[in-house]
Amino acid sequence: MLEKLPELLGFLTGFAILFLILNYCVKWTYRNYVFKMAKSHKEIVGLYQKVMKIIVKYHKPIGALAIVLALLHLWLMVSYFRVSWVGVTALIILIITALIGIILYKFKGKFLLFTHRGATLVLIIALGLHALFK
Ligand code: HEM
Ligand code: HEM
Repeated sequence: MLEKLPELLGFLTGFAILFLILNYCVKWTYRNYVFKMAKSHKEIVGLYQKVMKIIVKYHKPIGALAIVLALLHLWLMVSYFRVSWVGVTALIILIITALIGIILYKFKGKFLLFTHRGATLVLIIALGLHALFK
């Protein structure tokens, strides 16, 4: 069981990152679909807004948690297995994305939002490469 821990931490990091990406998905769906039925389906829209609020509220702590989980994953993989340079690249991009997130939170603005979004896209590609080539 314990020998599975390094891998499990990798998957937990992945789930945390999925939660962070949901931020974009729920807002996109809200803008394009849910918002348009605001008058006709009040209850469903209210429920949707509640879920969306939770996803936005926990975005920052889950972002920090993702980094902690990735560091634990790195530590155990390096101690008991090997280094994955693709993994290290993904971690660096994850940290850069979080730093842009912090700057976005402080200063706001479209440019920073797009940069944060773009960094997330690069992160997804790096994680895809990490899954494919380890
Ligand atoms: C940045 C976020 C990261 C995520 C989400 C992540 C996720 C994962 C996942 C889910 C696995 C299991 C894949 C499988 O066995 O099919 C894995 C394996 C692995 N990861 Fe990561 N990882 C990350 C960063 C890193 C870093 C920084 C390292 C550096 C040491 C690393 C090293 C490894 C290694 C050595 C394996 C095992 C590869 C193998 O089975 O040959 N990962 N990772
Ligand atoms: C660590 C990995 C992170 C990823 C992958 C990530 C990803 C994302 C994504 C995909 C969006 C949606 C962008 C859009 O609507 O176009 C977003 C929004 C945002 N992120 Fe992050 N994020 C991360 C960490 C952080 C951190 C640590 C902070 C701040 C401390 C942060 C602050 C924000 C802010 C302020 C927004 C704007 C909307 C909102 O408040 O939810 N992010 N993030």
